Amino acid sequence: MASYSFQAENVQICVIMVGLPARGKSLIAQKIVRYLTWLSIRAKCFNVGNYRRLETAHPTAEFFDVNNSEGERLRKLAAEAAIRDMFRWFDQEQGVVGILDATNTTKTRRNWILDLCRKRNVEPMFVESWCDDEDLIMQNIMDVKTTSPDYVGQDPEKAALDFRNRIRNYEKVYETISERDLTYVKLINVGSQVIINRIQSYLESRIVYYLMNLHIKPRCIWLSRHGESAFNLSGKIGGDSDLSERGREYARQLPRLVKMSVGDRPLTVWTSTLKRTQQTAKYLPYRQLTWKALDELDAGQCDGLTYEEIENRYPDDFAARDENKYEYRYPGGESYRDVVVRLEPIIMELERQENIMIVTHQAVLRCIYAYFMNVPQDQSPWMEVPLHTLIQLEPKAYGTEVIRIKADIPAVSTYREKGQSAKIKK
Ligand code: SIN
Repeated sequence: MASYSFQAENVQICVIMVGLPARGKSLIAQKIVRYLTWLSIRAKCFNVGNYRRLETAHPTAEFFDVNNSEGERLRKLAAEAAIRDMFRWFDQEQGVVGILDATNTTKTRRNWILDLCRKRNVEPMFVESWCDDEDLIMQNIMDVKTTSPDYVGQDPEKAALDFRNRIRNYEKVYETISERDLTYVKLINVGSQVIINRIQSYLESRIVYYLMNLHIKPRCIWLSRHGESAFNLSGKIGGDSDLSERGREYARQLPRLVKMSVGDRPLTVWTSTLKRTQQTAKYLPYRQLTWKALDELDAGQCDGLTYEEIENRYPDDFAARDENKYEYRYPGGESYRDVVVRLEPIIMELERQENIMIVTHQAVLRCIYAYFMNVPQDQSPWMEVPLHTLIQLEPKAYGTEVIRIKADIPAVSTYREKGQSAKIKK
């Protein structure tokens, strides 16, 4: 994987999560990994609970009691194994941001990790999730009792009770971060207050900026390509053509489709600056915003050509694009990587907002979808995103749920498989 274009420094960062159980640490850790990976920065999460489960799969709350010396021993062993694997990953796989997902609630434990990082020249950065919002904690306890491998097959009520007792055991020893010489971000009730201390590198500041924009209120994002366009009908790429008759029919039906899925929730619609997205969103009775960053991937010299014309005129380019579609940049135009870089402010704004519907273009939609669904770069440019289909994304604690709603309006397929000649398609 190539490194991110504006990663100027040669730094390796260990993000050390801190906080009681049920404070959303794993969710935050996974989101950081997803965001950085999307930006081509090598990031990986090392979850101490997963290592502990190899020896102790279904512990009761007593296992986490500080006075339980066997529990302490096994938990330390699990943390050592996670850290060992993380340093191996830094060394052997050129890892850039490793995330140690664990409670790390005591100063002693944090100092131990700090020493290990400093010996390896890895920058330690603490991310503490501090939360006393009972609703958020309850929501997390409910999620854990139904999704945690620790409680698989157990009665959900007993699981919730045991998990509460586990939290109590951690509370007995919890020391919040206050050391002024440490690099840390303290998130208080996710999004309501953020304390930042001694952020040093550019990459750390990117992570902080991302964390500052997060919220965990329930919400959905709806994605749709524009309706079928005149260029779609003639097989041409790019341009700024109007919708076809079937595309206009999709635009007319879209309010009903959206209402079925959105219900009475407030919604804002984002479109690109191109006519086909604005014509598609025309009848949606919600506030609308236009973003240049949502314009289709710029095909440069190939704008306005069909795939067949590109294959005839620029056979080497046609083949090179198939070889590595993510990196391939049209002469005078853009690559998928370029689109991801220009979409970063869109992703940041999406993280800040609640219900948003985006009407955009095939390549842009693939990049946004890849961020939410964690789709690898070599696959994202090949994803099938048909016309006349509304996609609902619902971010949940452990991933994003997808619902696809197809409008019953035929449209051409603009999908070309890897290796498929444009010539034989006709
Ligand atoms: C766990 O064993 O589930 C987590 C260990 C910890 O971070 O305290």
